[in-house]
Amino acid sequence: MSTEPIQHFVEQLNAEFARDMRGPNVLALLEDYVAKHDDWRRFAMFREDGTRYSRNLVERNDAYELLVLCWGPGQTSPIHNHEGQNCWMAILEGAIEEVYYRFPDGSGSPLAQVGEPTTYRAGQAGYISDEIALHLIRPAGEAPAVSLHLYSRPFDKCNLYCPETGEVTLCRLGYHSRHGELVPA
Ligand code: SIN
Repeated sequence: MSTEPIQHFVEQLNAEFARDMRGPNVLALLEDYVAKHDDWRRFAMFREDGTRYSRNLVERNDAYELLVLCWGPGQTSPIHNHEGQNCWMAILEGAIEEVYYRFPDGSGSPLAQVGEPTTYRAGQAGYISDEIALHLIRPAGEAPAVSLHLYSRPFDKCNLYCPETGEVTLCRLGYHSRHGELVPA
C-alpha cells in the first residue's frame, strides 16, 4: 500500500525533530509539501456556523502538533502568544495576512503594531516565536483561506491580548476535528 503524501510528510517531521528539536529543516519540508500535494484537503473542515476559524488536528506527539486551519472571510484570530514554542505556518489555499504586535508594557495603553501586515499566498511559509512578536492572523481580502500550522512543542493554552489595553486573558485551545473526524460539540 502506498503512503499518503501527508503521512510521508509526518514521517519526515518525526525524523527531523528526533534529529534536532529546533527543527532546522522544517520550513523547507513545509514548503516542499505544500508545493506538491493537496491531500491536506480531507482535514480542511470549515466551521458550519461560521463563527470563527477552525483548528483541525493532523498529527500530535511529544515533539510537535500539525494543524490545518480554515479561515472564512472576516475571521480573525485574537492577538496571541505562542507559549515559548516555535510556530511555522504555510499557506495551502487563498492568502493570509499576519500582523505583528509588541508585548504589552503593563501601562494599559494600546498594543503597538510592529511594521506593516505581511501577506502570505498559497505555497509561502513563515515562522514566528515569542522572541519575535505577538501576532494575529486573518484571511487577506474576501476569499476563504486554508493554512498549515506546526507548533513545537504542542500547547493547549495561550495568552490573548486586548489591542486597546494590553490586558491578558488565558485561552484554552481546542480542535474542530481530529485526524479527519469532527469533534462532537
Ligand atoms: C491558532 O493556532 O489557533 C492560531 C494560529 C497561529 O498562531 O499560527
